[in-house]
Amino acid sequence: MGFSGRSQPSFVKLGLTFTGYLCWILLLIGANSQKTDPEEVNALRAIKKSLIDPYHNLGSWNRGDPCTSRWAGISCYNTTLDDDYFHVREMSLLQMNLSGRLSPELVHLSYMKIMDFMWNNISGTIPKEIGNITSLELLLLNGNKLTGSLPDEIGYLHNLDRLQIDENKISGSIPKSLANLNNAKHFHMNNNSLSGQIPPELSKLPNLVHLLLDNNNLSGRLPPELSKMPNLMILQLDNNNFEGSTIPLSYGNISCLLKLLRNCSLQGPIPDWSNMPNIAFIDLSLNKLSGTIPAGVLSENMTTIDLSSNNLNGTIPASFSRLPLLQKLSLANNSLSGSVPSTIWRNRILNQSETLILDFQDNRLSIISGSLILPSNVTVSLRGNPICTRGNLIQFCGSYEEDFNEMFNLTRSNACPPESCPPPYEYAPASPVARCFCAAPLLVGYRLKSPGFTKFRPYFDKFEHYVSSALDLNIYQFHIDSVAWEKGPRLRMYLKIFPAYVNNSIHLFNGSEVLRIHGLFSGWRIHGNAVFGPFELLNFTLLEPYKDEFPSSSPFGISKGALAGIILGTVAGSVTLSAVAFLIFFRSHKRRHRADSKRRPSSRVSIRIDGVKDFTYGEMAVATNNFNSSSFVGQGGYGKVYKGILADGTVVAIKRAQEGSLQGEKEFLTEIELLSRLHHRNLVSLIGYCDEEGEQMLIYEFMSNGNLRDHLSGKFELVLF
Ligand SMILES: *[C@@H]1O[C@H](CO)[C@@H](O)[C@H](O)[C@H]1NC(C)=O
Ligand SMILES: *[C@@H]1O[C@H](CO)[C@@H](O)[C@H](O)[C@H]1NC(C)=O
Ligand SMILES: *[C@@H]1O[C@H](CO)[C@@H](O)[C@H](O)[C@H]1NC(C)=O
Ligand SMILES: *[C@@H]1O[C@H](CO)[C@@H](O)[C@H](O)[C@H]1NC(C)=O
Ligand SMILES: *[C@@H]1O[C@H](CO)[C@@H](O)[C@H](O)[C@H]1NC(C)=O
Ligand SMILES: *[C@@H]1O[C@H](CO)[C@@H](O)[C@H](O)[C@H]1NC(C)=O
Ligand SMILES: *[C@@H]1O[C@H](CO)[C@@H](O)[C@H](O)[C@H]1NC(C)=O
Ligand SMILES: *[C@@H]1O[C@H](CO)[C@@H](O)[C@H](O)[C@H]1NC(C)=O
Ligand SMILES: *[C@@H]1O[C@H](CO)[C@@H](O)[C@H](O)[C@H]1NC(C)=O
Ligand SMILES: *[C@@H]1O[C@H](CO)[C@@H](O)[C@H](O)[C@H]1NC(C)=O
Ligand SMILES: *[C@@H]1O[C@H](CO)[C@@H](O)[C@H](O)[C@H]1NC(C)=O
Ligand SMILES: *[C@@H]1O[C@H](CO)[C@@H](O)[C@H](O)[C@H]1NC(C)=O
Repeated sequence: MGFSGRSQPSFVKLGLTFTGYLCWILLLIGANSQKTDPEEVNALRAIKKSLIDPYHNLGSWNRGDPCTSRWAGISCYNTTLDDDYFHVREMSLLQMNLSGRLSPELVHLSYMKIMDFMWNNISGTIPKEIGNITSLELLLLNGNKLTGSLPDEIGYLHNLDRLQIDENKISGSIPKSLANLNNAKHFHMNNNSLSGQIPPELSKLPNLVHLLLDNNNLSGRLPPELSKMPNLMILQLDNNNFEGSTIPLSYGNISCLLKLLRNCSLQGPIPDWSNMPNIAFIDLSLNKLSGTIPAGVLSENMTTIDLSSNNLNGTIPASFSRLPLLQKLSLANNSLSGSVPSTIWRNRILNQSETLILDFQDNRLSIISGSLILPSNVTVSLRGNPICTRGNLIQFCGSYEEDFNEMFNLTRSNACPPESCPPPYEYAPASPVARCFCAAPLLVGYRLKSPGFTKFRPYFDKFEHYVSSALDLNIYQFHIDSVAWEKGPRLRMYLKIFPAYVNNSIHLFNGSEVLRIHGLFSGWRIHGNAVFGPFELLNFTLLEPYKDEFPSSSPFGISKGALAGIILGTVAGSVTLSAVAFLIFFRSHKRRHRADSKRRPSSRVSIRIDGVKDFTYGEMAVATNNFNSSSFVGQGGYGKVYKGILADGTVVAIKRAQEGSLQGEKEFLTEIELLSRLHHRNLVSLIGYCDEEGEQMLIYEFMSNGNLRDHLSGKFELVLF
């Protein structure tokens, strides 16, 4: 053990440390000059406290300032307001494995526009205090375990554009107050336990485009007024219990409506549908509808008509023969009689990617009118009809199971040499500019909530054009990696988005591009599309090259930002240490003086310090790969700093004192004890120390200074020491 520190002249040390302490105070003052509204900081702390965060995705919320130290998921207005404070604009905590509850304290985030807790595991009720955040535009709580009822106070959010509470366990009725939300375009409340009647008042909403209430327990009369909503495009009400209701279609001014009214206990006749020029999708299956099928001319945009499992009688109207985009017509399990017009499939010209399904099973159909020749890619099923008792119509009477998931080949042949991109780089889909260039894509989980078709394949190219142009990218940058239908029907996809080809350049997006693209998805700034309907973001994954702000440009494999943080941190840290030493010096000067004379030969002093671990030299050597230069991140006055990984996976910064900086053992431990008690939001936390084999090390949490991924996903590490 060296004791060099103590042999220095006390006054020099005093002077130095005092100067250092002053610098530290100035640093703190500097850091505090522009900060977040303290009320909002407290609110965020309260929110974190009532959440359970097993993956420490909100670790960055323990220190610094929300707006200036980049707390995970928090975005602020980029300028301070009149009150000289920064204010939180957006809380984006998508898919962070959070559970626990929503704190009512969120009311104090009174400038917030976007509140996004999608796809977590949050339980408890929606605090009624949300109603006070009148700046709120997007309220996104879907995919949690919220219970209780929807607070009336939501009706105060007059700026609300989108309310998403789908896939929770919310019960109670739909508050009438939602009819005050004149700016609302989207109500997504499917897959909850909402009960009672749909408030007729909702039909007053002038801007509502999507009303998704499927898979709830709604009952009572289906308000006829719904059909008068001027801008409604999608009404999805399947799996509810509107006992005794008839279909509320007056077809007043509705020009474009996709309807899903499956399994809703509807009765009565189907109203005339000839005045709906843009309707593309009708699902009225599993109801108790009776009477005949309307003979009026349907919209040319019709892709899907499902009237199966009702009590319909009469004949199949010839109007089904004039539908150029038809993919599926199901009239199964009714009491239809008469003949099947073969013009339904003969008039339908299918191109390469299209198929047609005609399901007429279990009716009383007795004859096929016209030709019996069936084109390939057309499936007609007449099983369970009198027509099939005759033995000569095998191709119409075979067993038929609808294949829910389309199988089609998504891989495009690009004739590139196999596997020559180092992962996670991969070939971008063949581009007209340069074939076979390696690039790192962004991975996006995306779901269409109410698409206007039954088979996606014919819409594949259209979809690529739609999304890539909405993202302002070239078509070759966009790739659909996989597609799967889910119940609903909803269509889940994984997309890969590639950086543009630039000659002689690494193929990566830059940070602002990533933020831009993320923002377009997460802020729903991809304009609506009548065919594809509403979408939702499931996840947004950043591969290795994007985990730090940029591909590594420093020799140490860390970003410039992180390096700056480390250097600054090291300086600040040394200053703090000096300041602490200064305090110790003062407090224990007299005592130490007395103790010194009685000091026994050094033996290993052992003290217990709460929350600070005593590491062995061996553990430190393993963590840093034997203090390998690849682990070296910087050099301070005190010694070298290494980045290490502990046995439990924790990433740490290890400060290793160099010869000449070692202090007395007892002093070292006292200092650690002091450091461990010193909790200041601008300091990183001390995890442990190592005092062995003539070595002194301090082990801190590692912080990489808020890189890009942290900003998006909330995985924050620590930088300051
Ligand atoms: C601040 O944000 C607004 C909109 O949010 C944007 O128009 C403006 O360019 C931003 N200013 C700076 C300096 O980033
Ligand atoms: C969420 O939890 C899963 C395992 O349940 C884990 O694989 C994933 O990395 C976690 N994600 C985050 C953001 O913590
Ligand atoms: C959600 O929480 C429950 C316990 O409440 C737990 O069993 C489940 O694994 C959690 N799911 C996820 C995805 O975190
Ligand atoms: C919320 O709004 C209500 C009525 O608008 C008001 O009485 C209450 O004080 C507000 N609460 C907070 C915490 O601002
Ligand atoms: C919605 O609820 C229905 C019925 O409970 C279920 O089949 C479906 O999978 C659910 N959808 C989602 C997206 O959770
Ligand atoms: C649905 O609502 C009815 C009353 O309308 C109630 O009796 C029933 O228990 C509810 N079902 C569920 C699953 O909540
Ligand atoms: C149709 O729209 C016009 C003007 O937008 C309105 O005056 C009329 O009342 C609407 N008709 C119905 C049946 O909603
Ligand atoms: C069709 O059903 C209705 C009642 O649902 C009945 O009044 C009518 O007579 C039936 N028509 C035929 C042709 O069976
Ligand atoms: C039928 O569909 C397949 C793909 O599903 C396609 O390859 C084939 O060309 C189509 N045939 C006709 C006659 O359209
Ligand atoms: C999909 O296409 C790739 C290349 O074009 C081909 O190698 C593969 O066999 C195809 N898969 C199927 C299921 O058709
Ligand atoms: C997130 O996306 C990846 C592909 O991009 C996918 O494999 C993964 O299952 C997704 N996770 C969830 C929870 O959807
Ligand atoms: C419906 O078809 C018309 C032309 O027939 C077209 O202009 C319109 O965009 C289509 N609407 C939808 C929702 O596809």
